[in-house]
Amino acid sequence: MSRTRQGGGDGPEATRKTAAGLEYSSGFGNEHVSEAVPGALPVGRNSPQRPPLGLYAEQLSGSAFTEPRHHNRRSWLYRIRPSAAHPPFRRIDNKLLRSAPFTETEPDPNRLRWSPPPAPEGPTDFVDGLVTVGGNGDVLQRTGIGIHWYVANRSMTRRVFGDSDGELLIVPQHGGLLLRTELGLLAAGPGEVALIPRGVRFRVELLEAEARGYVCENYGQPFRLPDLGPIGANGLANPRDFLAPTAAYEDVEEQVEVVNKFGGNLWAADYDHSPLDVVAWHGNHVPYVYDLRRFNVLGTISYDHPDPSIFTVLTSPSNTPGLAGADFVVFAPRWLVGEDTFRPPYFHRNVMSEFMGLIEGAYDAKAEGFVPGGASLHNMMSAHGPDRETFDRASAAELKPHKVDDGLAFMFETRWPVVPTAQALAAPFRQPEYDAVWQGLERHFDR
Ligand SMILES: [Fe+2]
Repeated sequence: MSRTRQGGGDGPEATRKTAAGLEYSSGFGNEHVSEAVPGALPVGRNSPQRPPLGLYAEQLSGSAFTEPRHHNRRSWLYRIRPSAAHPPFRRIDNKLLRSAPFTETEPDPNRLRWSPPPAPEGPTDFVDGLVTVGGNGDVLQRTGIGIHWYVANRSMTRRVFGDSDGELLIVPQHGGLLLRTELGLLAAGPGEVALIPRGVRFRVELLEAEARGYVCENYGQPFRLPDLGPIGANGLANPRDFLAPTAAYEDVEEQVEVVNKFGGNLWAADYDHSPLDVVAWHGNHVPYVYDLRRFNVLGTISYDHPDPSIFTVLTSPSNTPGLAGADFVVFAPRWLVGEDTFRPPYFHRNVMSEFMGLIEGAYDAKAEGFVPGGASLHNMMSAHGPDRETFDRASAAELKPHKVDDGLAFMFETRWPVVPTAQALAAPFRQPEYDAVWQGLERHFDR
């Protein structure tokens, strides 16, 4: 199935059926090739004098033309109308979406934690339901990240979104999403993540009545797989488990609002057709979905908890080798076998800043309070680690092999402190008593 209606009005059942039947093209960073109509893709050149089937050829660049080949990202799109044919964009309300530089509040050394944000009150789609927690860097310098929740209770209809400021790593926590992108369709539910590259337009449809999750808006260099060093050629997130869409297009001549996030603000233009009209494409600047349950978790088989960098799924490098603008890290089910080892994550103070979320279950360093859909922020050099209950239990535990299999947590880790938004600090669902989880850690020193 290649030609799709402009969705959103079909209802969750039809949307779920569409999501369940998708085909993908596998491999991170691959040169994918896909055509929804046989013969739509030019052969042997990118921009022939007259592309097949009367389509327009257009290059979408995710990296500068001149970046090194192994970092270069671009796709060639063959579409019914060129993207250039559009009316002017006008500013629209940002609602609860905020961008870098984050200057609403003073950078705060306190450890912060939130319960899940409430469901939206009125009809709210993915774009309207973005709620910014905080971030760092500068969108115009293409550095740093924005951290958002999304809460939605309706599909986008006659509306398409594209983010010029960065790529969007979407982490569903409740409710599945169907992502209709220029390059085709992706489905992602809790336990999976989806990435929409910078500038790629898409529409989000809900598979259930409500959807909630997290977004890392990465203004910096595109996420890539981390180097593996002595681990070898395999392990952590394996490239073939990243799934790109196959071409699918909408041939729709009716009004569509195209929302463009640019320079930290939302802009919109009313097109007279759907811009999801790409009939064929090839390239490596592509959206993808990844199932976190495929992550090959590595850890100690002798002693000590490894540094959590061992759980890195994707990394966005900065200009300093090894120092990430953003890392996406997952705490997936795994065996703990360390001998004479305090097995939960250790107490630490970190020059990197850590935003954590919980997709399901529980996290092994927090016995209570850190709940699915909630979040914590441990900023640069903020002391943190297991809460008292976890410390007491782990210090006394019998060290037989133990499987941690009751939760799926993740972290957005970044080299720059995360400055919260005013709305995040004032949120009624913030937990002002978070510090108390480390109270009562008694002295045991006995010289
Ligand atoms: Fe930490």
